[in-house]
This record gives sequence, structure tokens and C-alpha cells, in this order.
Amino acid sequence: MELIDVIKQRRSIRKFKEDPVPDELIDELLEAARLAPSGSNIQPWRFVIVKSEEIKKKLDEVTPYKFALKAPVLFVCCSDLTAFETRPKRVKELLEAGAFTDVEIDNPDSGKYESNIGKSISISGYLAMNVAIAIEHIVLRATDLGLGTCWIGRVDSEKTKKILGLNDNLYVVMLLPIRYPAQDPGQRPRFSKEEIMIKTV
Ligand SMILES: Cc1cc2nc3c(=O)[nH]c(=O)nc-3n(C[C@H](O)[C@H](O)[C@H](O)COP(=O)(O)O)c2cc1C
Repeated sequence: MELIDVIKQRRSIRKFKEDPVPDELIDELLEAARLAPSGSNIQPWRFVIVKSEEIKKKLDEVTPYKFALKAPVLFVCCSDLTAFETRPKRVKELLEAGAFTDVEIDNPDSGKYESNIGKSISISGYLAMNVAIAIEHIVLRATDLGLGTCWIGRVDSEKTKKILGLNDNLYVVMLLPIRYPAQDPGQRPRFSKEEIMIKTV
């Protein structure tokens, strides 16, 4: 499918078919996540793939969106809270890969430029923002593969971590059920281009 068709076709799918999702497709979704961009290439996304019915039953207490737990495959999308500390290493790799070679950049550490990290958003918010990019890569690739997904932000991170035995370095950002869709909804309400456009200067 053309990218624009994938973007236009994607919907939050809340009704699913019973058909199982092949492992090869799950692998495709992970590949799409892996290729997402991130600030300083810190790649803070981490995933637990839940297939176990027993675990899904236990996750009943973490979200009111029960349809998500009925999916044969549930991505638990996490951020690695230590990822920001790996920034120097990741930047070194980027420099070695030539990402900034012959590019005009003033010294970013000169103190001349404010950063949104730690100012308008916290580090954890910044990490979640990066994870969200990987999630949307998964969502769009899933749409391309004929699968249905739905972002589930209403999730109790601490309870989820306890059930899955995850360590304190992880924060659960989102649940993402993956399944074949049993609905074909029309486009949901959106602002017009005029409404989202502030101005051209
Ligand atoms: C960050 C985020 C969190 C969301 N959380 C939920 C959720 O907890 N439960 C749910 O049913 N849908 C959730 N959604 C889906 C939105 O409701 C949906 O994207 C929106 O209504 C527009 O519909 P569409 O995705 O079909 O275009 C979430 C979407 C995003 C991007």
C-alpha cells in the first residue's frame, strides 16, 4: 500500500476477529518499531509481547478497555527510563556513522539554546514521546499488513510491571492489541487543515 493510503485507512479498531496472528507478522511489527527515529538515537522503546491467556487474565486489573485484553497478541509498550543516560554513547555512534558530517550546527552545549527536555517536558515525558513514535510505526505497519490495533493509554504502569515482573527501569507507556479487524469504521472526527494551521510566516 502507498504510505498515504495506510495513513488514510488506519483506524482505532476495537472489534476483532478470532483468527490468530502469525509470528512472522509480529516480527514485521517489531522491525517497524526498531526503525523509528528518536532524540539522539537513544531508542528508549522496549516491548513485552503478551500471548499467554493466563497473563491477559491477570492484566484485567490494569485497564478498563477489556477488548484490548481479548486480542491474541498484546504489545506492552514500555520506555527504558535509563535510556537518556546512554545519550553520549548513542551520539558517539551517530558521529561515527557520519550523521552530522559537513552539517552546519552550532555547539549544542554552548548554553545559548534552551532545550524542551527538562523545561516544558520531563525526561520521562520525553522518553514516552520517543516510544510513541515507535508505537505509531507499529500501528501503520499493522494497518499495511491488514491487522487492526488500538492505542490504549489508560493503563496502570505499576500494576502491569508487577504482573509482568518488569524492573524499575521500565515504565509502561501504552498497550497495543494486535488482531485482525472485524470492523471497518469510517474516519473519526478531525479538525480541518484551517483549524490546525496557525500561520505561514
Ligand atoms: C496516546 C493515545 C492514547 C489512547 N488511549 C486510548 C484508550 O485508552 N482507549 C481507547 O479505546 N482508545 C485510545 N486511543 C485511541 C483514540 O481514541 C483514537 O485515536 C481517536 O479517537 C481517533 O480515532 P482513530 O484512531 O480511529 O482515528 C488512544 C490514542 C492515542 C494516540
